[in-house]
Amino acid sequence: MKRRIVTGLDIGTTKICALIAEVSEEDNIEIVGIGLAPSNGLRKGIVVDIDKTTHAIKSAIQKAERMAGQKVDSAYVGIAGAHIKSINSHGVVAVTGEEKEIKESDINRVLDAAKIIPVSSEEDILHVLPREFIIDGSPGIQDPLGMSGIRLEVETHIIKGVSTSIQNLVKSVLRAGLSVEEVVLEPLASSQAVLSEDEKELGVVLVDIGGGTTDVIVFHEGSIAHTSVLPVGGNHVSNDIAVGLRTPVSEAEKIKIMHGSVISERVDDNDKIEVLSASGRERKMLSRKMLSQVIEPRMGEIFSLVKKELDKVGPRDLTPAGMVLTGGASLLEDSEELASNITELPVRVGEPDYVSGLSNIIDNPVYIKKGDTVPRAIFSTAVGLVEYGINNSDAKTSSAGKKNSKEVVSNFFSKLKDWFSEFF
Ligand SMILES: Nc1ncnc2c1ncn2[C@@H]1O[C@H](COP(=O)(O)OP(=O)(O)OP(=O)(O)O)[C@@H](O)[C@H]1O
Ligand SMILES: [Mg+2]
Repeated sequence: MKRRIVTGLDIGTTKICALIAEVSEEDNIEIVGIGLAPSNGLRKGIVVDIDKTTHAIKSAIQKAERMAGQKVDSAYVGIAGAHIKSINSHGVVAVTGEEKEIKESDINRVLDAAKIIPVSSEEDILHVLPREFIIDGSPGIQDPLGMSGIRLEVETHIIKGVSTSIQNLVKSVLRAGLSVEEVVLEPLASSQAVLSEDEKELGVVLVDIGGGTTDVIVFHEGSIAHTSVLPVGGNHVSNDIAVGLRTPVSEAEKIKIMHGSVISERVDDNDKIEVLSASGRERKMLSRKMLSQVIEPRMGEIFSLVKKELDKVGPRDLTPAGMVLTGGASLLEDSEELASNITELPVRVGEPDYVSGLSNIIDNPVYIKKGDTVPRAIFSTAVGLVEYGINNSDAKTSSAGKKNSKEVVSNFFSKLKDWFSEFF
């Protein structure tokens, strides 16, 4: 049986995650490898040190390859950073051919027409995402191929980024020995792993709060209405804690994960936590409420910025399915409630499907909170990249073969436990 390999590479500010999937001719998907490596060559989602990034990519890929028992030569690579901008654009063409039946070439021409937008010489277009097609004035068409018409229009969502930032990301991957199948906007990938089709149809906003960026993507009537990457995330919370509680950043990171909470009035006045002093020599007792009082304004700022993005899209009733949070920093206690208070939307935390029990075996203790399991929410982008790759690779022939997140990850997480015990 012929199988093809699809690799997702999430190059985050705090961790790099490589995921290798095997896809059979019948489109059965099996995740066969995962590799994680700490990332320290990025700032706010942007590559600032190619050597360090290359090194970390190599390490993550090698771990994934060892698990998979095979080498990979290309990957779908995630991108974020505040340089990413999005714009909605319209294209229109006359349908060619005597039959007036819409062909692939007509669809490509209308998408090209929509691409004629202001792009500075420093920018490149990353995605042209069709929101709907309009045939002879009739809107709401998702797949116009084979339909009859004279005038074909398209509404698109176009995502562009600064060329040098894209190139530095691509360079890091190439130097690690892989070619790049496609550079994919991270929230677009995460949305594939975390959101249901029903939520996208109703209208929903996904917020991926990572270490260096908070990525926002809004769906309305099944299509992308807005995307944005905000240059703030969990690392800023840790830095605030380091300054506020006078402790090293590495200690602040641990305290945040172990004891952090985002609604300070919920925290008992008598709750105490032990904190390393800035010198790193002695430990002091501080109130947990104080910790929460440092975290709350920064997380509040993040949700206020998200609210501003939503205000750009339109009235709040455009997203009746509410807000879905994912990414590592979404796991802080009570973050759903703070997000809901600020944005006035119902909020849930979203993650790819999961088999529990990884906390004893994952190698990075910083990600382990009390006796909890390893957070699934940090895998949303990597799982989404694999799904994006499977659904968009040339070998895929029909949209009927599309896999949803549940099918991909049920397999992934059921295997993960064995892999982690073997390799971490
Ligand atoms: N259990 C937890 N509770 C609170 N915060 C957590 C938890 N686990 C991870 N984090 C925080 O989540 C952040 C990392 O999240 P994630 O792995 O999604 O980011 P990333 O993908 O590396 O970064 P980015 O997407 O911003 O480039 C860090 O700030 C970390 O402190
Ligand atoms: Mg991320």
